[in-house]
Parts: sequence; structure tokens; C-alpha cells
Amino acid sequence: MATSLVDKFKELNELKEKAKLGGGTEAIEKQHKAGKLTARERIEKLLDPGSFVEVDQFVVHRCYDFDMDKKRVLGDAVVTGYGTINGRTVFVYSQDFTFVGGSLSEMHAKKISKIQDMALKAGAPLIGLNDSGGARIQEGINSLAGYGEIFYRNVMASGVIPQIIAIMGPCAGGAVYSPALADFIFMVRKTSYMFITGPKVVKAAIGEDVTFETLGGADAHAKLSGVAHFATDNDEECIKLIKQLLSYLPSNNMDDPPILECADPPDRMDEELNDVVPADPKKPYDVHDVINHVFDKGSFFEVHAQFAPNAVVGFARLNGRSVGVVANQPLVYAGCLDIDSSDKIARFVRTCDVFNIPLVTFVDVPGYLPGTKQEHGGVIRHGAKVIYAYSEATVPKLTVIMRKAYGGGYIAMCSRHLGADVVFAWPTAEIAVMGPEGAVEIIHRNELMKAKTPEEVKEITNRLVAEYRNKFANPYIAANMGYVDAVIMPKETRPMLIKALDALITKREIQPRPPKRHGNIPA
Ligand code: HXC
Repeated sequence: MATSLVDKFKELNELKEKAKLGGGTEAIEKQHKAGKLTARERIEKLLDPGSFVEVDQFVVHRCYDFDMDKKRVLGDAVVTGYGTINGRTVFVYSQDFTFVGGSLSEMHAKKISKIQDMALKAGAPLIGLNDSGGARIQEGINSLAGYGEIFYRNVMASGVIPQIIAIMGPCAGGAVYSPALADFIFMVRKTSYMFITGPKVVKAAIGEDVTFETLGGADAHAKLSGVAHFATDNDEECIKLIKQLLSYLPSNNMDDPPILECADPPDRMDEELNDVVPADPKKPYDVHDVINHVFDKGSFFEVHAQFAPNAVVGFARLNGRSVGVVANQPLVYAGCLDIDSSDKIARFVRTCDVFNIPLVTFVDVPGYLPGTKQEHGGVIRHGAKVIYAYSEATVPKLTVIMRKAYGGGYIAMCSRHLGADVVFAWPTAEIAVMGPEGAVEIIHRNELMKAKTPEEVKEITNRLVAEYRNKFANPYIAANMGYVDAVIMPKETRPMLIKALDALITKREIQPRPPKRHGNIPA
């Protein structure tokens, strides 16, 4: 121990320098060779320069088993602290794979829990950068307890502060549940993976040969399981996207999202929108063409872009204000709702609602995807989540019906009946109980049965479908009933939405909701 003042100061500096090395220069080199940044490099890139304040730099583990007393480094494989991103406070932890594979010990977990508590008390986002071999095996139950403490805090913070977790290395076993409890998961292609049981266990248990990447890589989770919201190419891209995402979010549930300067005129009419929906109702179109023309130029930030592409969700801005966008995508399954798209929409709607982000929904939905795969997979309970989420949401809810709005799909996609504050329809809207073909088959069954030849059936069907389409497949019956507030030209959509948002930004629910402990969302 140092005795003189000079020695004491020198000792502090030396300890700090030592702590910065984590598992040592060799391990840092190995980390770089694997295509990964170190825990500290990641924090440096994430936060505003010079803003990081480290907490618990000198924490060490207190395990003596398996010679672990000989293996001790300052910080214990995780760097924690706070700083700013674009001037806004965030709390961060970054696991350091260079020491015992970033594994989670009792003390490592205490550091993360402390940062979680600080973030929650301060009402500021928590960002976790995960790169860990999981529970530190030498510490046994104490490391498991640590995970439990972290999960509990993830749940307590849910709906209060944004929780964003990036998987930038291994994340296996129960360790996956902290990210899964957060609001957003980022993954990095080729260097990160998430699974409950790895390829070896899979092989032993069910004889299946599978690689890390196929089983739990970034694309597997961003595309197939929906566990990850974003798949990125490397650490730098991942960090850049985290910062972009944060720009749409408030610091906490009592706060509003930041309003940015907007160079795109709020009264801009967009003639091209008039041509997006084809004259033929069976022809698809890309709903991104609508989104990109309506919102502030370049502001759309898609979430879950690869997962369930028959629905599109993401953040955008309307005259500088952050909004959540939900849209059916006619390019995929004709924009039908199914199990995955229902999960995707419901989750996104709830995320926007907890963070005071108004919702703008674009509707072109022929209904739910039919078939045993969907029915047996539980499309009923999954589909119910969309209805639940929209009904529960109290943020301003604006809906634009572009084309098809049939049956349950019409109701579920933020209809007036689920509490939409403003509903616009384009002249191309078809709002009815079901599509013309299905309706004719049912209500004109007797007439169709009288037809003698297939040609005759076709001729009668075509006539009746045209009659039905003429009579019901339009926006005016719904507008007559006041279910639609206004039928507008597509080109007017941007100014009309901005005016509606300006009018509703102060929205408060008129009727108090019944007191309850919490709702019971279908799962
Ligand atoms: C202790 C660990 C560790 C762990 C890795 N290390 N994981 N030490 N506990 N969980 C150590 C290694 O021994 C090694 O130490 C160093 O970290 C680097 O690991 P390598 O194996 O050399 O790295 P790599 O080849 O990149 O492989 C990474 C890995 C592998 C795939 C993550 O290490 C691995 O399979 N680890 C075990 C993963 C696991 O089974 N975790 C589940 C634990 S149970 P040295 O000294 O050689 O450098 C769990 C349940 C949580 O997590 C439940 C919560 C509810």
C-alpha cells in the first residue's frame, strides 16, 4: 500500500490503468481477431466523447473455489457506468469477454443490478452490451442468483425506461432472458448468437446437426424467431443503430420523445401518393412507398424489418415529432395478418404506448391467413393480442385505410371501434365485413347452385362480385356511419396527419378505465 500522497495518487492511476486492461493484452488481441470491439471500445463509440463516468471499476469477484482466487481482475468482466448520447443521459453496462469469457459472477451481477437501479431511479434508458459465456460456472448458484436479480429488475423497469440490449458475442442458456425482457434486442452477424441450448446439446438431445449461426445467429433471430429486432453487420453498425433508435424514444414513461427540427414542409402534398395503390384491387404494392412519402423525409426507422414482413412497423417523424408506424404490407401474403405479424404489431403498439409515442396505422388487410398451420399455431390467441394492444393504448391513435379493410382485420387494425382518435380513408378503401368473392359465395349460394355449367357459375359470380364491390367495397358506407372521419385524397395524407397529431397531442382519455391490478393479455 502507498504511504505518501504522491504514492497514493500514483497507486490510483496505476489501478485504473490495470482495470482498463480487463483480461490482458493477449485476450484483447484475441477479441479483435474475432472481429469484436472490447467492452470499453464499445462504450467509447456509444457515448458522447468524454461523457462516460465509470462505476464499480474496482469490484472483484470473491470466489475461492477452482483456484479462482488466483484469477482476479478489477471490474470482474463488466464495465458499468453512465454518460450521454446526443446530450441525453443513459446508463450502460458492457460485458468484457476478455476475462473468463465475460461470464457472470455474483459480483458481476451486482454491478449490473446497481446500474439497472440507477437507471430506473434516474428515469434514463438502460443500454446493455452483452458478450458473455453465461453463468460463471465456478460460482455455481451465486451466479444463477445474479441472473435472477437482473431479470427481476428488467421486469420492474419494463414500461418505465427504455431497455435496449445488444448481443455482441455469446448469449446462451438462461442468460437470454434478460435481453428477452428488454424492449429491443440488437444482434451482430457472425459474432453473436443466442440460444437456450447450443449445437452440442442439440446434437446430443435430438441428433440434429446445426451450426451456431443457423441455430441462434443474428439472421435466425431477426428473420425467423423474431427474438431480435435488428441484425447488424458489425459492432460499429450495431452501436450506430442503437443511437438512432434512442432518438425516437423518451428517457422514461413520464417524458415525451425529443422533437427534432424538420426541414420537410408540414403542408407538403405528395402527388405520387395518388398513384401508389393500383386500380386493380388484386395487385400488390409496397407499403414502404406510402410510408416514405408521408413522413418526414428519411425519418422512417424500421423495427423487425426481416421478421413477419407481411406487416411493417417502425418509428418515423411527423413534422419533427416521433410516431410509431404500423402498416399491412400487400407485397407479402397480400398483407394478411398471421401469427408472427400479430405478435410483431401487438408488441410494437405496446412499446409505443408505454413511451408516449403516437401511433399511425396504415390499413390494407384482406383478413387473417387461413390454414391448419395458423389455426393450430394459435392464430386466435396471437391475433387477439393486436386487438388487446390497440384497445389498451391511450396515446393518440391515427388510422389511414388505404384499401382493403375486411372483417376482423378491419376491426383489429386500429379501427374507430378500438379507440382510434382519427380515421381517414382513401377513395380506394374497401371497408366491409368480408371480401366480395367470399361474400358472394355465401350470400348467393342458392343462386350459384342453380347454374348448370362452370361457365355459368363464373358469369354469375363475376356479376355478383361486381355488384357487391360496387355497393360495399368503398369507404362511403363507413363514412356514412361516422366510422371514418374523412375520405381524403392520398396526396393529402401528410398534412392531414400532421394537423390531426397537432390537435391530439394533448390527448387524455375521457373515461377512466376500470381499476384492476393489470390486464391479462392473451399470450
Ligand atoms: C466460466 C467461462 C465461461 C463460463 C467461458 N469461460 N464461459 N468461465 N464460466 N460460463 C472462460 C473459458 O474457460 C475461457 O477461459 C475463457 O472464458 C474464454 O472462453 P473460450 O472457450 O476460450 O472462448 P470461445 O472459444 O470463444 O468460446 C466461448 C464459449 C465457450 C462458446 C462461450 O467458452 C463456452 O461454451 N462456454 C460455456 C458456455 C455455457 O455453457 N454457459 C452456460 C453456463 S450456465 P480461459 O481461462 O481458458 O481463458 C448458464 C445458466 C444461466 O449460463 C441461467 C440463468 C437463469
